[in-house]
Amino acid sequence: MEQILSDLASKCSDILGANPGPEGRARVAELLSELLADSANIEALIPPTTGERDVLYRDPDLGFCILAHQYPGPKSSPPHDHGSSWAIYAQARGETEMTDFELLSPASEEVPGKVRATRTYRLRPGEAYVYEEGDLHAPTRTGPTSLLRIEGTDMSKVKRLRFEAV
Ligand SMILES: [Fe+2]
Repeated sequence: MEQILSDLASKCSDILGANPGPEGRARVAELLSELLADSANIEALIPPTTGERDVLYRDPDLGFCILAHQYPGPKSSPPHDHGSSWAIYAQARGETEMTDFELLSPASEEVPGKVRATRTYRLRPGEAYVYEEGDLHAPTRTGPTSLLRIEGTDMSKVKRLRFEAV
């Protein structure tokens, strides 16, 4: 795992250092798709001991984080954005049904935002999607799944606001 992870981290750092915007993120998503095409990489990065949210790497310069997620059974999240960050979801095992939303009214600390679903699609193994700053989505997982995610910043330190679908 160490070599595969350090290679991935240094490639992400090179790509995002040269191009921190959507173009760089799209290239990182391609990189993740290529990586997850090889089951040996999946086994190395998301071994059976992986929990629901394991931070594998934090970049000391650019701040992005590489995370592994493994859900042993159904797992869904309500509509959310990633605060001021972007995120890339790369499916490794199983399938995620993702719904995207448009913002109808913004969220505040006191009042949840209002959102409306715009499309639903599946993330299959080897597929990676970029969610830019402010993009709203909700994943539904009906069986065991695992994925790699890259966040633009460490979201555990970011205050999250709530959204309700209407
Ligand atoms: Fe998300």
